[in-house]
Amino acid sequence: MQKDLLGIQPLSAETIRHLLTSARRHKAKVRDPAQRDDTRKHVALNTLFYENSTRTKMSFLMAGEYLGAKAADLNVATGSVCKGETFLDTGKVLDRMGIDVLVVRHGMAGAPHLLARNVRACVVNGGDGSNEHPTQALLDALTILEHKGSFTGLNVAIVGDIANSRVARSNVFLLKTMGASVTLVGPATMLSAELATLGAAVTTDVRQAVRDADVVMALRIQAEREKGSKFPSLTEYARYFGVNASVLEGARPDALVMHPGPVNRGVELTADVIDGARSVILDQVENGVAVRMAVLEYCLEGLR
Ligand code: NCD
Repeated sequence: MQKDLLGIQPLSAETIRHLLTSARRHKAKVRDPAQRDDTRKHVALNTLFYENSTRTKMSFLMAGEYLGAKAADLNVATGSVCKGETFLDTGKVLDRMGIDVLVVRHGMAGAPHLLARNVRACVVNGGDGSNEHPTQALLDALTILEHKGSFTGLNVAIVGDIANSRVARSNVFLLKTMGASVTLVGPATMLSAELATLGAAVTTDVRQAVRDADVVMALRIQAEREKGSKFPSLTEYARYFGVNASVLEGARPDALVMHPGPVNRGVELTADVIDGARSVILDQVENGVAVRMAVLEYCLEGLR
């Protein structure tokens, strides 16, 4: 049994299926307050986020609450980090306070892995640099599964800032493991040779990538990870790589539109697509809480 969830890459198809089945069971607790329980009332959970977040942080906190755990956030901006304390020292301090689960987001790839080797607590990766965002891929998978019933043979197009995206990496690992076909599309400056080696098709032609797609997943431009711009202007990005109703005409009629959020409206997706019938962006948010409950249970099983 594993105490940490650091990435999708090491997970087997069986573990992914187990987590998704568990998330489906937990989903009732998101929708119906009467179904929430206090089975984990002795557990203390803390979020430790060195990068901004709305969905991931809040849904981990709510996932903890809905299982009865005590869930709190260390506001890094007002913590001892500002006095020069290192990430590892801060993590060890929280661990020694008896906290059982540390959910970590950090700009450095591998930061949660480093912490996991040095603490008793379970460590869950809430996004490490451009490396992995495992719970995002799991919530995306749950959303796809609910609408499509299976991953086998599905065509998934992932559009945008691939090279900088931990969401794209975790999704490629998961979708390939579960038997879907993945096409990555974006400006040549935003593509990743590494992901192409994992069995995903790579193109710079959005219409080609979206043709016959069952799922079109757009990604946010990770401006915070770039010094210079990788494209001339937002207007040009939107014109060539933005997903709009015309681009979607090439996809399957029942194609899903996804985005991990936050969305730059009018850049990665047009407003009519975000708010349209094919969009499952808010389903992703709801499934994020259910998936994080499943992940907390999975990690706590492995805690000594
Ligand atoms: C993603 C992230 O932080 O990696 N957001 C999220 O967790 N929902 C994607 C992004 O910020 O663009």
